[in-house]
Amino acid sequence: MRIEATPVGDYNRIRVEPVTGSIGAEIGGVDLRELDDEIIAELEQAWLDHKVLFFRDQDLTHEQHLTYGRAFGQLEVHPFSPHVDDHPEILVIDSTPEKFVSAEVWHSDVTFRECPPLGSILLGRVIPPYGGDTCFANMELAYELLPDQIKSEIDGLYGVHSYVKGFGRNMSTEELAETYEKFPDQKHPLVRTHPQTGRKGLFMARNFMLTIDGMTADESRALRHRLYDQSSIPEIQVRFRWRPNSIAQWDNRCTQHYAVPDHGGWRRRVERVTLIGDRPA
Ligand code: SIN
Repeated sequence: MRIEATPVGDYNRIRVEPVTGSIGAEIGGVDLRELDDEIIAELEQAWLDHKVLFFRDQDLTHEQHLTYGRAFGQLEVHPFSPHVDDHPEILVIDSTPEKFVSAEVWHSDVTFRECPPLGSILLGRVIPPYGGDTCFANMELAYELLPDQIKSEIDGLYGVHSYVKGFGRNMSTEELAETYEKFPDQKHPLVRTHPQTGRKGLFMARNFMLTIDGMTADESRALRHRLYDQSSIPEIQVRFRWRPNSIAQWDNRCTQHYAVPDHGGWRRRVERVTLIGDRPA
């Protein structure tokens, strides 16, 4: 299938090199420790256009990572994941030979919140010699490429999202009940409209979406799996090979990502700041 490539805008202060025609651009000519309003505005535009930005050689301290994130909005604290000491807004994914950790599922982050994150900024700290790439999918193209009949079927439908499938797996019944008070199930439209661009995209997370509101379990399963399949279309994806001090910055409202768990016993440590988002509509 032939994809119409995203045009590259005019930039004065940053270099924008698309990695694919459909999603992802590598950004050069910028040191994320030295920002000003014009650079931030250009980064914001490139982010809206390409959905995921990649940076190399950004040796940021924890404080600089936080400052960079706050240039785009307020940061949230993940309710369940580990974080850096003294910096609860920096989530840590540290996969070691003793304890393998990986987000090996197509998802958008923290969709069990009433207002899921706007975006995430992930910094590579310890990168394995091979493997451990992150794949991203453009969920607006995922929507566009659906047959018209499925587009009509999902118009107005809501997915039910919860932490129980992923983070609730090892909780006791008491813990689950207590956590449910703070994080009740959330209904989000299967098709959300991006609040800044007005474009429609599929909004789902395989690890958090339990069912589709108003459908029987069998109907919901069949439709969810048909929709999940869209993320695996190669033409809507980009794959990022990490290096230490690389950054991937994704728009959580119109993309999904998948961390590929193929780095054997090698350590992989990445750290994420996450921007508070709005209620999907
Ligand atoms: C994430 O889902 O935020 C982490 C992705 C990764 O580890 O590459």
